[in-house]
Amino acid sequence: MAHEFDTVQGAQVGVLMGSSSDWPTMEEASRMLSRLGVAHECNAISAHRAPERLSVYCRSAQERGVRVLICAAGGAAHLAGVVAAQTALPVLGCPMKAWSLDGLDSLLSMVQMPRGVPVATFAVGKPGAVNAALFAAAILGLSDDRIRQSLQEFRAEQAATVDRLKS
Ligand code: RP5
Repeated sequence: MAHEFDTVQGAQVGVLMGSSSDWPTMEEASRMLSRLGVAHECNAISAHRAPERLSVYCRSAQERGVRVLICAAGGAAHLAGVVAAQTALPVLGCPMKAWSLDGLDSLLSMVQMPRGVPVATFAVGKPGAVNAALFAAAILGLSDDRIRQSLQEFRAEQAATVDRLKS
C-alpha cells in the first residue's frame, strides 16, 4: 500500500503528531520553526492506528535528510518511543493534554522510556511544543550558522521583551 505524506523539500525537522486533534498545540512548534527559518514538515500519523504508515514515514524522513523529529501524542503516548525505536535521529517528545489527567499520563508515558532508546521529553502542552522547536533549532545550529544566528536573535528579542515588562 502506498502512503502519502506532507513532505517539504529540504525539511530538516519532521513534526509528527498522533492525531490532527494535536495540531492546535503543535501549530505553536511549527510557528516557532518558521520564525527561526527552519524548513520543516508536519504530519499526523498515529502509532497505534497506522503503525505501518509510521514506519514508512520514519524511513522516508531519514532518506530525505530530515535531521530531527518532534513527536507529539496524548494518553498512552507511545508515538515518540516507537519513532525513536525506528531511527537514530534525535527524537523530541511533546506530551499532549488529551482527554484526562491533564497530560500527566502523556508526560509519564514519554519521559519513562526504558534505557537504550531515548526520547528527549518536553513540558506538557504549548510550552513544550515551543521548547521542542527551539531545541531542534539548537541541535541544527551546531552545524548551521544561519539557524544559530536566528536562535541568538530570538533570545535577544525575548530578553528585550522581559526587560520592557520589568521597567
Ligand atoms: C493520541 O490520542 C493523540 O496523540 C491525541 O493526543 C489523543 C486523542 O486522539 P484523537 O482521539 O483526538 O484522535 O493518539
